[in-house]
Parts: sequence; structure tokens; C-alpha cells
Amino acid sequence: SKVAVLISGTGTNLQALIEQVKKPSSSAEIVVVISNRPGVLGLKRASLAGIQTRVVDHKLYGSRSEFDSTIERVLEEFSVEIVCLAGFMRILTGAFVRKWNGKLLNIHPSLLPSFKGVHAQRQALQAGARVSGCTVHFVAEEVDAGAIIAQEAVPVLVSDTEDSLSERIKEAEHRAFPAALELVASGAVRLGDDGRIIWKTAE
Ligand code: GRF
Repeated sequence: SKVAVLISGTGTNLQALIEQVKKPSSSAEIVVVISNRPGVLGLKRASLAGIQTRVVDHKLYGSRSEFDSTIERVLEEFSVEIVCLAGFMRILTGAFVRKWNGKLLNIHPSLLPSFKGVHAQRQALQAGARVSGCTVHFVAEEVDAGAIIAQEAVPVLVSDTEDSLSERIKEAEHRAFPAALELVASGAVRLGDDGRIIWKTAE
């Protein structure tokens, strides 16, 4: 499957996906990396891997729908089939999410449905959680509420700060996102019409 990865920053999740699709067993090929911010490290990672990049700077668009339409045109240009949001810090319009329903994946740094929204790691610390982790899910119109594809748990240590917990969660993200992409790209997992995950059972 042809994959686009959308980023906004350092791109360590992008890097993990790049390493994954290099494997001969991979069902996925990253054909373009799109950033809403110019000059971020993730763009350099893509270039170093020989992947084409595009910058669609949200500040240059008068509306979300114009921004999303430009993203859409890039996805069509590269015949993209699956979109991975890897630290992409923009909320996409309902129209875009509906069009890409079942083909749009996001990574969130908590065990959803716990700790939705921003600063999920901080929320876990403030809640006194002893376990947190990351979730890869299909994007639905409700933020951080789409069907769960993969999760990995990590311990929360009493000595943890937001940074130390975020670092531990990120290590889990770099395993969970590649695993989730393979599940979707290989057809092992798909999204049912009822919004629930369907696992391809061994016939
Ligand atoms: C990750 O921690 C992810 O959970 C969150 O944004 C961060 C992106 O980091 N959505 P990177 O750009 O992949 O390093």
C-alpha cells in the first residue's frame, strides 16, 4: 500500500515507520511526507531516506477546508492509499476524515480512551496512573475516539516527570505505530461500517 505520513515536528515516529517499510516483509511503501510546518527535522529524515516531501503551511490558508483540500491534492498526486498522522498537530475537517475513513491512522500518547486530548502524559501523571502507554487508532470525527488498532503499555514510575514518561511512551510508539501500519497495509485489520475493527480470521 502507498502511504503518506503527515508530520509537524521531529518525526521520530516517521523514522520508525521509515525503518519498518524498509523490511522486505513490509506491505507498505511511504511515497510522500507532508509537513504543515517548514524546516522541521522530520522533513530532513524523509529526504535522507529518499522520500519526496511537501510543505503545506497552514498559516497560508484562509480556512481549514482550503488547507485540507491542498493536502488532498498532494495525496491524489501520489496515489496514496493510507495516511499516517505522526505527530501531526492539526485537526482535520470532518469532510477529510469521512473521505479517509478506515485509511487514516493516528498515534496518541496514552491508553485511549483514557487521557484524550493534549498533554496526555501530564494527565496520566496528575491522575496518579501506574500504567500508561500509546494508542494507534483510526481517526474518527470525534477527536481521539476512533477504533483502536494497536496499543502498548508502559509503567509510570513514581520518579517520573512529564519528560521521562513521554520518553518511555515514545519508545513504545516506535513499536506500536509500525505494527499498526502493517496490520492495515496487509489487510489483517480493517474498519467495519459500524466503526469497529474487523480482524481477518484465518479462513
Ligand atoms: C508523539 O509523542 C505522538 O504521540 C504525539 O506527537 C509526538 C510526535 O513525536 N502525537 P515525533 O514528531 O514523532 O517525534
